[in-house]
Amino acid sequence: MMILSEAYTLSNGVRIPKLGLGTWFIDDDKAADAVTEAVAIGYRYIDTAQAYGNERGVGEGIRASGVQRAELFVSTKVAAEIKNHGDAATAIDGSLAALGLDHIDLMLIHSPQPWADFRGGDYAEGNRETWRALEQAYAAGKLRSIGVSNFEQRDLDNILSACTVAPQVNQLLVHAGNTPAELIAHCESKDVLVQAYSPIAHGAILKNPEVRAMADRYGVSVPQLCIRYTLQLGTVSLPKTGNPDHMRSNAQVDFVITDDDMDVLRNMRAQDYGEHSVFPVYSGR
Ligand SMILES: NC(=O)c1ccc[n+]([C@@H]2O[C@H](COP(=O)([O-])OP(=O)(O)OC[C@H]3O[C@@H](n4cnc5c(N)ncnc54)[C@H](OP(=O)(O)O)[C@@H]3O)[C@@H](O)[C@H]2O)c1
Repeated sequence: MMILSEAYTLSNGVRIPKLGLGTWFIDDDKAADAVTEAVAIGYRYIDTAQAYGNERGVGEGIRASGVQRAELFVSTKVAAEIKNHGDAATAIDGSLAALGLDHIDLMLIHSPQPWADFRGGDYAEGNRETWRALEQAYAAGKLRSIGVSNFEQRDLDNILSACTVAPQVNQLLVHAGNTPAELIAHCESKDVLVQAYSPIAHGAILKNPEVRAMADRYGVSVPQLCIRYTLQLGTVSLPKTGNPDHMRSNAQVDFVITDDDMDVLRNMRAQDYGEHSVFPVYSGR
C-alpha cells in the first residue's frame, strides 16, 4: 500500500496525498468510525463537503484517529448554492466549526452552478465573490489551499481572470468511461491539479464486462484497476467506501497499467449511472 504515503505538490507548495477517502453517503453518525478505520489502515486524506451532512463526524474521526493533525489532509466544499461573499465567508467558518478543526487543508467551491441549475445559468460574478471569501480565509490561515469542483474551462477561466490566488485544484468526475481529457489538459496547463471523484463511477463500473476482463488480466479487482487508472492519469483519486476491507484493497494499487490499456480506458465511454442518473453530476449535463 505504498500509494498511501505518496503525494503531489500543489502550485502553492502544499503536499496533497495521491489517494484519499471519499465520504459522500457515509452518514454523520458513521463517519467518525469510517475515518478512524481509514487512518488506521494508512489513509491520510479524507474528502467531505457541507452538502454531505457529515463534517461533524469526519472531524470527530480526525481528532480521534491518534495521528497528528499535521499528517492528515482534510478537504471540504462550500455548498453549491452559495454564490455571494457574505454567505461564503459564513459557510467557511461553519465548516471549521462543524469539523472542530482550526484549519482545513483544502476547500473547494462545490459546483459552478447551484445543483438545481447545474450547467444552466451564468453565475460568473457569484463564483468570483465566493472565491474572494476563499482567498480571504486562505490569507487568514484558515485554509491551506483552495480550489474548485465541477468547473469547466470557462468557469475556471472566470476565476483565473479575477483572482489574486489561483485555484490549486479542480475536482472532477473522472473514471474509466468518462475522461474529460481536454479539460484535464487545460487544468494542467494552468497548474491546477485535477482530483478524480467517483473513480469507480459511483459503483456503476463494477458491472462493466470490458473493465472486468481487463482487471482479470492484471489479477486485480475492478475498483483497483479503476483507481490505478486515475492515479496514472496524474490525478488524485478519491474512492468512497465505508467498508474497511474495501479501504484496504482500494489502496493495493502498486501495479502498472500499460500505455495501450491506458488508451483503452481513456477512450472508453461508460456513462450509464442507472438509478443515480438523477444526481446532477451523473445526468450528462
Ligand atoms: N465534487 C463533487 O461534486 C463530487 C461528486 C461525487 C463524489 N465526490 C467525491 O468523490 C468520492 C467518491 O465518489 P462516489 O462516492 O460517487 O463513488 P465511487 O468512489 O466511484 O464509488 C463508490 C461505490 O463503490 C463501492 N466500492 C468502493 N470500493 C469498493 C470495493 N473495493 N469493492 C466493491 N465496491 C466498492 C462503494 O460501496 P461500499 O461503501 O460498500 O464499499 C460505493 O457503492 C465521494 O465520496 C466524494 O468524496 C465529489
